[in-house]
Amino acid sequence: MDVAKLHAALLAQGVPAAHIRDAVGSTNDVARALGDDAPDGTVVWAEEQTAGRGRRDRTWDSPAFSGIWMSSLWRLDVPPTRWGWIPLVTGLAVRDAVHRHGVMAELKWPNDVVVGHPPKKIAGILAEIVGDMVVIGTGMNVTAAPVPGATCMAECGGSTDRVALSATLAGALRQRVAQWREEPESLQGEYSAACSTIGQVVHVELERDRLVGQALGIDSEGHLLVRDISGIEHIVTAGDVVHATIST
Ligand code: BTN
Repeated sequence: MDVAKLHAALLAQGVPAAHIRDAVGSTNDVARALGDDAPDGTVVWAEEQTAGRGRRDRTWDSPAFSGIWMSSLWRLDVPPTRWGWIPLVTGLAVRDAVHRHGVMAELKWPNDVVVGHPPKKIAGILAEIVGDMVVIGTGMNVTAAPVPGATCMAECGGSTDRVALSATLAGALRQRVAQWREEPESLQGEYSAACSTIGQVVHVELERDRLVGQALGIDSEGHLLVRDISGIEHIVTAGDVVHATIST
């Protein structure tokens, strides 16, 4: 990786500070350690993660030179009722970025970015609240799909230029975070149009329960509305979900 080129490309997208590393445990952990003094929108990017983390304590395979392992740090300066949108807004940004580089992706609520039928995961999102900041981690497979059921930009016929992809992703995320802060009412319609979960029969694993029903839509707080077979409507928050699958 040409670090100077990547650094310049990130700054050209308006990123205020970029920390580019060869290998780290997890870019989310490096971002968390930067703390309150880091400027809003600071980016941490690594060539390789040796302890990449996914949701629900899963690991995230992050081999060197094959993907974009990037975290950014933002001030939580909107009401808590809007925080549920963070992974969804990030999904929109990742979708924007892969689309600009040749791949049409869909969003599986709450935070998977998938391509094709059957859908294969091209990117994952891990948003973590730390005090009055949120760390948004994005992992995008570019030249390799490290686990079964995953895909990558190369396999989907998209660009594999990781400098350009990283810069586009950083810029898209800045735009989507601004939308989340300044025009939140526009998110519900946009996310719903991009989300392949809506209208499908979903199996939602909750902490202590399992819900099967039809996904009806997304509410104004980014929650998934599901009607079960007895006709009862449930509001599912991203934080409640262990796993959500769509019947095919
Ligand atoms: C998931 O799908 O379970 C979320 C995966 C998130 C992976 C990214 S890679 C950059 C950042 N650092 C991490 O340790 N995880 C996130």
